[in-house]
Amino acid sequence: MRGRLKAPKGTHDLFPPESERFAAVEATARRVFGSYGYGEIRTPTFEATELFARSVGDTTDIVHKEMYTFSDRKNRSLTLRPENTAGVVRALVEKGLQDIPRPIRLWYTGPQFRYEQPQAGRYREFRQIGVELLGVAGAAGDAEVLVMLFAFLQALGFRGLIATLNCIPAGEARVIFSKALQDHVRPQAERIGAEDRRRLEENPLRLFDSKDPEVARVLEGGPRTLDFLDEPSRKQHDELKALLTAAGVRFAESAAIVRGLDYYTRTVFEVASDRLGAQNALLGGGRYDSLVGDLGGPPTPAVGFAIGEDRLITAMESEIRQARPVFFVVPDSHDEVAYALAVAEEIRAAAPDAVVESDLTGRGIVKGLARAAQAARDPQNYAFPAIAVNAVLLGSREREDASVTIKDLATGTQQTFARTQLAERLGAARER
Ligand code: HAM
Repeated sequence: MRGRLKAPKGTHDLFPPESERFAAVEATARRVFGSYGYGEIRTPTFEATELFARSVGDTTDIVHKEMYTFSDRKNRSLTLRPENTAGVVRALVEKGLQDIPRPIRLWYTGPQFRYEQPQAGRYREFRQIGVELLGVAGAAGDAEVLVMLFAFLQALGFRGLIATLNCIPAGEARVIFSKALQDHVRPQAERIGAEDRRRLEENPLRLFDSKDPEVARVLEGGPRTLDFLDEPSRKQHDELKALLTAAGVRFAESAAIVRGLDYYTRTVFEVASDRLGAQNALLGGGRYDSLVGDLGGPPTPAVGFAIGEDRLITAMESEIRQARPVFFVVPDSHDEVAYALAVAEEIRAAAPDAVVESDLTGRGIVKGLARAAQAARDPQNYAFPAIAVNAVLLGSREREDASVTIKDLATGTQQTFARTQLAERLGAARER
């Protein structure tokens, strides 16, 4: 016997009502980001492997061991995107960044792929909602995306979240900082594993990404990013803090976050939620002033962030889906099915915000009502948050008289009226 097919490890299917939650969050992103002038970009889910090696970085965990890489039939090496910033920059460079008016304000949503060990909040296919602002140097750009991020989180009902902020030394200061890190860690290198010793030599900043608590202990008391900033970085960082304070964005500084992607320069930030378990990073972002140039475009400063949408929805306290009136149209037998379909269309026309579901089986009122009753009992688990769950009962009498009987399942009250009065009655019910 052949085995049952299952979704691949680390992926999950989204059914209603959960899929509706994702759609509502994405609609909120479109509304809030749109109000700041950000338009949506959609890039391919797979790209040339080289793109991620050159942007995210060869020695990062993502490129080193988490990519879904495959060869196509012409032996091109392709990779399912592990993140979307690289694809956005590639798309802009390819289109011709010099011809696009600046600043460039974009947002996106879609699946990303990383070969990680699945656990709560960590998947191999997950969804991100992200933002990229290109062509604005310095603290004002950082402040805009952070203020907009918090406006979005607020619109979803989040309160009390804090951004953790760091500034990574840039240019020559980064070289000096990396050297200081090596000098600090090398004498204790036997305390850390082979993988981290490789990081120590190849790209010491990546030591901060290590999941080994011993590495964190070794790094403690070592050189701190914020002590190694050159004058322009220090100024930019101070200005950002002042702008965020003025805008009422709550933040804390931490020299320990460097984020697991190589393209960051200076500003990096994260937001964690205590409503998540071990994987508590809700989002991450930062400035990447060299990436556009590195990928062959004209030097262009840029900053952005990406939110883990699956985690965002887990952490959300309140329901943001719009509650809708629901009508279950139930014919008493096959003879009333045609009449039921016609009435259902008329209800949709009369109440455009309503959900109208028809029982198509013709199994009769009693059986047909079971689904309506279940929705009335547990409206949160119905595909759409329901207000006023109604049953529209259509028997031979209704068909012959051209009437409808509507029962409000919450109160049990029931009324029969002429089909021609539907628009008027439903309109009136909505105004009540
Ligand atoms: P990242 O920190 O790698 O940044 O990912 C951003 C967010 O995606 C994380 O904070 C987390 O919420 C979510 N995430 C990452 N991996 C997983 C996973 N395996 N399962 C579920 N959620 C996950 C970036 O991707 C950058 N492109 C952000 C950025 C945009 N920086 C500048 N612009």
